[in-house]
Amino acid sequence: MTTDSRVRLGVVGLGLIAQAVHLPNLRTLRDIFDVVHMCDLSPTLTDQLAREWGGPVRTSTDPAEVFADPDVDAVLLLTPGTHSALTEQALRAGKHVLAEKPFAYSVAEAESCADLAQDRGLVLQVGYMKMYEPMLDRARVELARLGRIRLVRVTVLHPTQEQQTSHVRHLRYDDADPDAVAAAVEEERRRLDAAVGDLDEPFRSIYSDVLQASVCHEFSLLRGLLDDMPVAFSAAQVGTATVGEQLKEPPQVQALGTVGEAQLMLSWNWLSGHPEYGEELAVFGDSGSLYLHLPAPYTLNARAVLDVERMDGLERSTNRMRGEPRTGFDVELEAFHASVTAGAGIRSTARGAARDTAAMWDLTQRLIETHTTQ
Ligand SMILES: NC(=O)c1ccc[n+]([C@@H]2O[C@H](COP(=O)([O-])OP(=O)(O)OC[C@H]3O[C@@H](n4cnc5c(N)ncnc54)[C@H](O)[C@@H]3O)[C@@H](O)[C@H]2O)c1
Repeated sequence: MTTDSRVRLGVVGLGLIAQAVHLPNLRTLRDIFDVVHMCDLSPTLTDQLAREWGGPVRTSTDPAEVFADPDVDAVLLLTPGTHSALTEQALRAGKHVLAEKPFAYSVAEAESCADLAQDRGLVLQVGYMKMYEPMLDRARVELARLGRIRLVRVTVLHPTQEQQTSHVRHLRYDDADPDAVAAAVEEERRRLDAAVGDLDEPFRSIYSDVLQASVCHEFSLLRGLLDDMPVAFSAAQVGTATVGEQLKEPPQVQALGTVGEAQLMLSWNWLSGHPEYGEELAVFGDSGSLYLHLPAPYTLNARAVLDVERMDGLERSTNRMRGEPRTGFDVELEAFHASVTAGAGIRSTARGAARDTAAMWDLTQRLIETHTTQ
């Protein structure tokens, strides 16, 4: 670590989320982070972003070089797919890790990374940035005033990525070593196979590309709001599906279950041309309700909104609160710094990701039950 307690960071994977969110945020947070090494399979992209970053930034196309760099204290893993494989390599090389979601396809992989980090005394944080959304803290306070919680409803409206990112400068070059790309894809396929066995389509793609890739955020949010209450599902559907066939477009997933003693409705909807990404976490209690609207992921400084309706004796109150212009992504990075430099606890642990993975697998089983008996 540098003497001024800035964490020296290696950034691995320089695609959309790096360019749209993490690199701009790291520039704002340059008092606490020093980006010293950048890595992407594309050499042109890596060189260009390092040049634009300025200063003495090392570059490489192999994550192993970042992990072997003695000047790197910690790594930010922003590669596609799951991140347990690179996490394991980084931890073995003695680096603290902040890894984007999805973290792992299986509970065992997530738990094994958590054990490794614990054994080595290293920080391992999962990029569930919604757990750091500042308005979630306010929602937790309001939750305690709603009486007995009866229903939790989570709704996601998901347009295409293009629809969400047309404002983002996204550099891409087609010069990655094809063998390295093929090896990364093959490793990801092997890990998915090991986790799900011979799971039929469309459930395999729904598990990896929808539940793990997007719905994982909803499970982390539920844990963040409701203190890790257990989640279980009794029924789920994706509209129509034929076993053995891939869906023609991402599905609408509807699921019913419980979170703690409350009922749970989870609704994730692919709406390709919807004007914007929508995400609402609503909680209904005996004496009031709250509605937390989360900002779209690719919009810097977007604010969450919290609406609360409550009865105080005979008096009815309605309150709208707007978040501060810091997003969960900013706070996530600050939390990582505090954990690496001062041992502060983190919210988004790999053990939490293991719990989410178990819940996503449970949901997948309910989908199979529904669509194999239709
Ligand atoms: N928290 C969020 O809301 C959020 C939003 C978007 C993406 N993500 C996650 O961020 C990750 C990256 O997503 P993206 O949209 O930026 O993807 P992307 O495909 O745009 O970028 C990934 C980059 O990683 C590089 N890469 C691939 N394999 C590599 C390897 N082994 N070593 C080094 N570089 C490698 C690619 O060349 C590419 O430039 C994904 O895991 C995704 O789930 C999270």
